[in-house]
Amino acid sequence: MKKELVKLAEKHGTPLFIIDHDKIRENYRVFKKNLPRIQAYYAVKANSNPEIIKTLFNEGASFDVASYNEFMQIYEYIKHFEENDKDFFVWDKIIFSNTIKDRETLRKIKKYRPLVTYDNTDELKKIKENCSTAGLVLRLKVPDTGSQVEMSSKFGAELTDAYNLIKKAFDYGLVVEGLSFHVGSQCTNFDNYTVALQMTSELFNDSRKKGYNLKIVDIGGGFPVPYDSHVPKFEKLAEIINSECERLFPKDIEIIAEPGRFMAATTATLVSEIIGKARRDGKIFYHINDGVYHTFSGVVYDHWIPNFHSFKGGKKEVCAVVGPTCDSFDKISLSEQLPGNLQIGDYLYTENIGAYSTASTTKFNGFDGAKILHINN
Ligand SMILES: Cc1ncc(COP(=O)(O)O)c(C=O)c1O
Repeated sequence: MKKELVKLAEKHGTPLFIIDHDKIRENYRVFKKNLPRIQAYYAVKANSNPEIIKTLFNEGASFDVASYNEFMQIYEYIKHFEENDKDFFVWDKIIFSNTIKDRETLRKIKKYRPLVTYDNTDELKKIKENCSTAGLVLRLKVPDTGSQVEMSSKFGAELTDAYNLIKKAFDYGLVVEGLSFHVGSQCTNFDNYTVALQMTSELFNDSRKKGYNLKIVDIGGGFPVPYDSHVPKFEKLAEIINSECERLFPKDIEIIAEPGRFMAATTATLVSEIIGKARRDGKIFYHINDGVYHTFSGVVYDHWIPNFHSFKGGKKEVCAVVGPTCDSFDKISLSEQLPGNLQIGDYLYTENIGAYSTASTTKFNGFDGAKILHINN
């Protein structure tokens, strides 16, 4: 594989972001195999590359979208369907998981009868006024302790307010279809899921008893990617989720999830090139042609810890790897174990960089960012 990466870099140039579609299909299938009862809505935000969406669409995935543009990216694939099939697809296989949607977006999606999340009264009013056709999913605030990216400081209704938010929605003439949560992205503390499922089931079962016939439980994203050997196994988490869902919820409900990172992260490898080398305060700085404003944006936005490997051997020492822009903030890592004898023109590669990377790349300083190459598609 290493030789193959070098060949591709020589042929296509660097930085080169290589997406392996066999791996996308494998991730989707592993998810489905281990969580057979759960409908997987790929969280498009993780990597909205149209080819990734196409591969997952062909696998039969559903989709979690956060904006009108993401919605239309999926709609593109179904616009030729018969009206009824199109309506069914939007209802059954797309969720707007952003709890806050601007009025214009709501007005634009009204005709599609979307499933949307909410977590507060003002959002409810906005949905009633601008998108009364929507089905609703109430998002709960749940523990996200230890997750790489926390969510609960910005999203989710307190359990104490939740019942009133359901009642209010029905009083407004809207229909709450179910409940959702997100335990934080790259969640390695599986207690977050057990607590969240317990909280959700209490509200779910209570609401049903009071006559609100909820049907959907959406367990969000958070499924961890094996970035290193300390990450607990997804299969273990799946066992916990399966048994807790079985224990806590009625049999007739739909359980859905919004995996983003899990589907996208391991599918891509980046090959970058050393464009400068300097010793600064005694440490070797490798300046490469990609950085935190570009494919390594996840270091900033996703709290991601990058990994760097060299193709060449040599005595390793602690080196810094920094990006190509003029901003001194553009430091990707200050402590990578890399051979000290690497030269300008040598390549480095970074694995598991498929999620929250190209998704948040900018054009800062006039650098285009990595070229994207699809293999096995
Ligand atoms: C509402 C929602 N669902 C799903 C996801 C995807 O989460 P993950 O990549 O951890 O699977 C996110 C990530 O930000 C999100 O905000």
